Amino acid sequence: MPHTRLIATLAFSDGTPSVELPIIKGTMGPDVIDVRKLHGQTGRFTYDPGFMSTASCSSAITYIDGDKGELLYRGYPIEQLAVHADYLETCYLLLHGELPTVAQKQAFVDIVTHHTMVHEQMQMFFRGFRRDAHPMAVLTGSVGALSAFYHDSLNIHDPRHRDISATRMIAKLPTLVAMAHRYTQGLPFVYPRNDLSYSANFMHMMFSEEGKPYQVNDVLVRALDRILILHADHEQNASTSTVRLAGSSGANPFACIAAGIACLWGPAHGGANEAALNMLEAIGTPDKIPEFIRQVKDKNSGVKLMGFGHRVYKNYDPRAKLMRETCHEVLEELGLHDEPVFKLAMQLEKIALEDEYFVSRKLYPNVDFYSGIVQRALGIPTPMFTSIFAMARAVGWIAQWNEMISEPDQKIGRPRQLFMGPLPRDCATD
Ligand code: ACO
Repeated sequence: MPHTRLIATLAFSDGTPSVELPIIKGTMGPDVIDVRKLHGQTGRFTYDPGFMSTASCSSAITYIDGDKGELLYRGYPIEQLAVHADYLETCYLLLHGELPTVAQKQAFVDIVTHHTMVHEQMQMFFRGFRRDAHPMAVLTGSVGALSAFYHDSLNIHDPRHRDISATRMIAKLPTLVAMAHRYTQGLPFVYPRNDLSYSANFMHMMFSEEGKPYQVNDVLVRALDRILILHADHEQNASTSTVRLAGSSGANPFACIAAGIACLWGPAHGGANEAALNMLEAIGTPDKIPEFIRQVKDKNSGVKLMGFGHRVYKNYDPRAKLMRETCHEVLEELGLHDEPVFKLAMQLEKIALEDEYFVSRKLYPNVDFYSGIVQRALGIPTPMFTSIFAMARAVGWIAQWNEMISEPDQKIGRPRQLFMGPLPRDCATD
């Protein structure tokens, strides 16, 4: 539990008496000034659009030190989890706070594996979407619809119901993502296989063809598993904050996660891996890099170096390093080490990291810079990239939602505003 040790004194230059505000210390990271009583004491609000200096909640799940480039899930460095854990162990850790024992892992894998099927009627639901719909549109709608299919576990005040919903979400997301892919391709849906690992089963549902089942390739399955681990949680990012805000009103978890998926879709967030790969393809050849960098530096061009920059990381995103390593492994396995897009990405990264514009703004590659290249090598079509991210992040969203709901003094999230509109006025009467 956070505890208070210090007091901040806030003085005003207009004669308003100064106020004392508690400073809360977390286990790591910056202290926070508790401003909850500020309005009651002064009649004033704080103003922080974009949450530049505001902690919206307390959490014990994920810790980021953006200056050091450090990411910890429940205290464990991402670099260690990426090597020593698989995705379902990571899910267990995020949900329960500890890595599972052998028996706990077996039980968790078993329960997730046996919930991978979706209600057969979901197929009819899918058929209502246009074939050319973006998979994220299909995913937002179909995950929201889960609350209409699984309303037997929607009592958010019952921990058992929350647990069932968490399992359903983690188990069924890959099935829905694969269905979204196959539907937009006009391919028949493929049922899950319980004898495969979480990631291998996803590849099977994505890529199996009639008479030609997906041949499990351990390097590629491990690469997908790593993508899922690296994207599993990232503390209070935009989509997680969306899930928390939606959930703060008591909305059911499927509806909240549909809201998170909608937020993730934006190009400034989860849509960046798709945008990064499109950008690399638009640049085309290394000789075009200087002109592209010139455009990025021109504020009027509206061009950004996608997959670069982060609100929290002011150092190399640790996930980007692991993703670059995975990229090497996958391209090597597939005999694609001369893949021009990968070479272009490495050259672009090198040039940007030496350029004063990026150095002075502390802009480094984020996880999305290389994840699109890996996903494409795995055979995942570009418009599906953000859906893979959503599938990975579902566990983080549900863990954060569960943490919020479990708090005894949980309140509905209701920000205030600085009003800049017209003063009261009357309608014309004649
Ligand atoms: N390319 C060029 N310039 C950039 C970039 C970029 N990718 N990112 C930031 N900058 C510049 C800004 O223009 C700004 O310059 P200024 O100080 O001269 O005005 C400065 O760096 C600070 O950037 P902000 O936009 O204030 O940073 P913010 O924290 O608001 O934005 C964000 C972070 C949205 C991630 C931004 O860096 C961006 O748009 N990056 C590209 C999209 C991307 O890769 N998103 C993925 C994020 S990771 C994830 O969601 C998993």
